[in-house]
Amino acid sequence: MADKKSDWKETTWVSPSNIALIKYWGKHGEQLPNNPSLSLTLKNSVTKTKLRYRRLDEPVPDSEDLKVAYWFDGERNEAFERKVANYLRRLLPEMPYLTSLELEFQSTNTFPHSTGIASSASSMSAITLCLVDMEKKMGLRKPPTQDLSRRASHLARLGSGSACRSVYGGWVTWGEDGLLPDSSDRYASPLEQDIPEQWQNLRDAILIVNSDRKKVSSSAGHGLMSNHPFAEGRYRQARKHLNCMMLALQNGDEKTFVEVVESEALSLHGLLMTSSQDGLLLQPESLQIINAVRAFREKTGLMVCFTLDAGPNVHLLYRDEDKEMVQQFIQEELLPFCENKQWIDDEIGEGPYKEEIK
Ligand code: DP6
Repeated sequence: MADKKSDWKETTWVSPSNIALIKYWGKHGEQLPNNPSLSLTLKNSVTKTKLRYRRLDEPVPDSEDLKVAYWFDGERNEAFERKVANYLRRLLPEMPYLTSLELEFQSTNTFPHSTGIASSASSMSAITLCLVDMEKKMGLRKPPTQDLSRRASHLARLGSGSACRSVYGGWVTWGEDGLLPDSSDRYASPLEQDIPEQWQNLRDAILIVNSDRKKVSSSAGHGLMSNHPFAEGRYRQARKHLNCMMLALQNGDEKTFVEVVESEALSLHGLLMTSSQDGLLLQPESLQIINAVRAFREKTGLMVCFTLDAGPNVHLLYRDEDKEMVQQFIQEELLPFCENKQWIDDEIGEGPYKEEIK
């Protein structure tokens, strides 16, 4: 039967990336983290995904044949489409009806192409939010889901661990820990703690040192933790850091905040560097930026600190009230170390949202 345009329905979600202060590095089982993590959800670095969906006349005979297409920036992206199809197969125990649907995703990112930033957190959380919304609209889940964000977080985790944190805005934790009420390895939760004023409006300047794609994929990197000689010490350190961070937030202790954030970033890279030759991701310019940030903090006494993802780019965290001084410092002293003087001006954000159809 020929396609009827009226059969298609759609939903569009905008979902942000996040930057971890306490890093998730090492996992087991079905995307379960080996230690709790804590992140800030960003505002400007987002993925926008439209899902078009319709029922098939007959379910596909085999899960290998799921009907899915993925378009990125207006072009079919077959590599990512395979990743999405694998993800959907992993969701089948939770969403068995996916075999009876045809799905078409159309995505765009706000981060410039030339920065090499490809966030699985924003893309996987946007896809999942669309699916959970579709499930609700079509009445496919019985009994209906009460807490859509929790369901989306739980399912997004199966696509990419860090994506489960992007479902919420602000400060977010993921992973079971005695200090965090209602915490779970299966889904993230907003941090239930009053954040002192000085950290409520944090900004994140993402300094692009190199835009090449990562040499180590996150999944391969997590895998290298299984036989890593430092693994147990690292998981203990992450829990201790979380403890210190919670106390620092309670007491407004900026010194501890900075120490924990920077130590987490360097620990991640210590683990990377000692797990494989490809794990040496920091570049001379990354270290020059780190040294300049520390010297600037020493000189001005401002609360500025750096963190890192699994790559050479440096995230500079600072307070909104210090924006003018810090951005002048970025322009004058840090951009010379950035590739084509590129950086992304981001800040803490309120989390994903649905774009209503006009
Ligand atoms: C260094 O979430 O990308 O950014 O679960 O394999 O998709 P997968 O890994 P991913 O790992 C993120 C690691 C990190 C730290 C963090 O975000 O906590």
